[in-house]
Amino acid sequence: MGAKPSVPDDQLPPDRTFIVTGGNTGIGYETAKTIAQLGGRVIIACRNEEKAKFAIERMIRETQEEHSGEKTEKQPITREVPELNIQYMNLDLSSFNSTIEFVREFKDRGLPLHVLICNAGTLNAQQKCVTKDGFELHFQVNYLSHFLLTLLLLPLLKESAPNSRIVNVSSVAHLFGEVIHDNIQDLKSHRAHKFYLNSKLFQVMNMYCLSRKLTGQGISVLSVHPGFVDTDVFREGTGCVACSFSSMICCWGVDAKEGSRSSLIAALDPKYDGTTAHYFDRGRPSNSSRLSRDEAKQEILWKYSLQCLREQLSDVILQEIGEKLEDIEPLSTS
Ligand SMILES: NC(=O)c1ccc[n+]([C@@H]2O[C@H](COP(=O)([O-])OP(=O)(O)OC[C@H]3O[C@@H](n4cnc5c(N)ncnc54)[C@H](OP(=O)(O)O)[C@@H]3O)[C@@H](O)[C@H]2O)c1
Repeated sequence: MGAKPSVPDDQLPPDRTFIVTGGNTGIGYETAKTIAQLGGRVIIACRNEEKAKFAIERMIRETQEEHSGEKTEKQPITREVPELNIQYMNLDLSSFNSTIEFVREFKDRGLPLHVLICNAGTLNAQQKCVTKDGFELHFQVNYLSHFLLTLLLLPLLKESAPNSRIVNVSSVAHLFGEVIHDNIQDLKSHRAHKFYLNSKLFQVMNMYCLSRKLTGQGISVLSVHPGFVDTDVFREGTGCVACSFSSMICCWGVDAKEGSRSSLIAALDPKYDGTTAHYFDRGRPSNSSRLSRDEAKQEILWKYSLQCLREQLSDVILQEIGEKLEDIEPLSTS
């Protein structure tokens, strides 16, 4: 396997701005903390204000401890640590309104955006669970709302190009996902264990499709499998997928800091400047599943996703990806 690929540790310009969804815990927490320690500006986009504020305090405290070498089990940071520039903004990905409101507020702050890390994820339904917007929960939280967020933020990412990045935190679980043409959310069959797997597949497929639509525009679209990481996602999850992953974590699990390696390499490594459509497995470029690379299937998912988001998108946004509202059919309700 060779040495683990290392996370770049070059100082970041203070204006380089990152959004990390679900940055209050687990892999997202460690990703956000490391970027902030390197000097970047980080917005953690989280659904719970109390948890997010607690996470920021914890990042500041841990950074001071690591710097002073107080926590002996951790590698002391040898150079001067900048004051962490990390802010919280509310985002509940189970709601389109919340996603749209997040973007509005972010734009109101007048900040640039260089890197969007779509990290938040859920695995909590043993049976069908439908959001207020009418979509299967995993489909919306893990995939569709992240796609909406990405589209709404594209103008800002384009302003920061070249070397803007979108990172989808997917999973090796995408290997077990399916695309069923007339039943993409799989709601008709109620196979709850498929919901998470499919959402992770869709994130990888979306990476390929979006990369094509943004060719030559200076935005890299990447996706990652972080490894089997000991976090809350499987601990709190139920059903056979959560159980299988929990057992794998018992055997091969790593901690969240190690689990953030893939996201950090995708977000920061200058080696990937000007490249796009890479899938990283624990920090190394790797082949995603054959199904995820099937262009015809990617286009089916793309078209369906735009239909799902039809009410949320304007022609101005659709122009960014070469689409028009008049060409997107409403979702059939049958
Ligand atoms: N752990 C692994 O072994 C593993 C393996 C492969 C892929 N992944 C992927 O890695 C990503 C991070 O997972 P993790 O392991 O770090 O899990 P985690 O510790 O459970 O973190 C998940 C994050 O997502 C947030 N979230 C969940 N539902 C949300 C919603 N509706 N709106 C906004 N945020 C929401 C959670 O917020 P709250 O704290 O408020 O719940 C939390 O911040 C996920 O996409 C997961 O699928 C993990």
